[in-house]
Amino acid sequence: MTQPLLSLRNVQKHFGTVRAVDGLNLDIQENEFFALLGASGSGKTTLLRMLAGFEVPTGGEILLDGKDVSNVPPNRRPVNLMFQSYALFPHMTIAQNVAYGLEMEKCPKAEIKTRVGEMLEIIQLSHLAGRKPDQLSGGQRQRVALGRALIKRPRLLLLDEPLGALDKKLRGDMQLELKRLQHEFGITFIIVTHDQEEALVMADRVAILKDGTLLQCASPHDIYERPNSRYAADFIGVMNFMPAKVSNGRLLGAHGKPVTAQIPEGLHEGADVVVAIRPERLKVSAPQGDAAGSLPRGRVLATAYHGLDLQLHLETELCADPITVRLTAQEADQIALSQGDQLELGWDAKDTRVFAA
Ligand SMILES: Nc1ncnc2c1ncn2[C@@H]1O[C@H](COP(=O)(O)OP(=O)(O)O)[C@@H](O)[C@H]1O
Ligand SMILES: [Mg+2]
Repeated sequence: MTQPLLSLRNVQKHFGTVRAVDGLNLDIQENEFFALLGASGSGKTTLLRMLAGFEVPTGGEILLDGKDVSNVPPNRRPVNLMFQSYALFPHMTIAQNVAYGLEMEKCPKAEIKTRVGEMLEIIQLSHLAGRKPDQLSGGQRQRVALGRALIKRPRLLLLDEPLGALDKKLRGDMQLELKRLQHEFGITFIIVTHDQEEALVMADRVAILKDGTLLQCASPHDIYERPNSRYAADFIGVMNFMPAKVSNGRLLGAHGKPVTAQIPEGLHEGADVVVAIRPERLKVSAPQGDAAGSLPRGRVLATAYHGLDLQLHLETELCADPITVRLTAQEADQIALSQGDQLELGWDAKDTRVFAA
């Protein structure tokens, strides 16, 4: 494998007794679109600030191209951090805002003009070059901030919750826009978000942070389909958790019957576990025969129509919380569903994950 652009080796940042970042090990490759995902306070911003050079780690090493940059100041790193609030200069025009970084570098005037023109084209704001930031929409201001960050052609662009201030529709557009820009520029992006859907949509790899440590780092597909902990399973998307106990090599559910599951190695007799399964992996059907059948049953508490799919909430004897089932429009058409209906619930062992309770 080629040398990673960025390597974190046991990186720590402690503020007194607060362990904001607590021993991170991570390699990020050139041209990767990498997402850091974690609840508020998990250390995301602190990590970005160390990568940008605004904080010095209290332990460990940050290597760029294999060289330790822990003590290199921000302006000497080929790294740009785009802040949570875009911090555009209100008294400058859009073109001046975009030009700012090059002006500071004392770039020749003619070159600045060309590069600002190109950048305004790319962020599709050429027609608004002479406006001030307060004359733009939220999405346009976002693009100016991106242009200002990208014009210096950093090797690594750090984005801290860049889409946090935008409404849902615009967020979706900007997610695609960011991917396009990243591809076009061939720059490594590390984006921080607390929105798991956003991370899955945009990133090549996603890392889940919790209390300053790395829980899991994988492709969006694997993070979603193969979470390595109950926390990760719960944090990403919707997950049903059914309590169970290991008994004679099987799992017995809350209803006292075996629960279909892929049982991991190393579970001891009597261990308490949870069986996790995604809503879209559950199958429902009209009950066959009497209630003594082998499949667990559920009673429809509520249905929620989402356009593309239908979500069912079922009361079952498998767990105290309602179980969520996601049916495609076609599946929903084939089965009459109204509140109070009884349904049989089925799933494949391969679609389950089992975690210690
Ligand atoms: N300058 C600081 N002094 C003391 N504690 C800090 C400082 N910066 C961050 N923290 C603490 O470090 C933890 C991680 O914060 P932060 O990196 O901002 O998390 P996130 O961006 O994931 O919400 C929090 O508990 C926060 O209160
Ligand atoms: Mg933050």
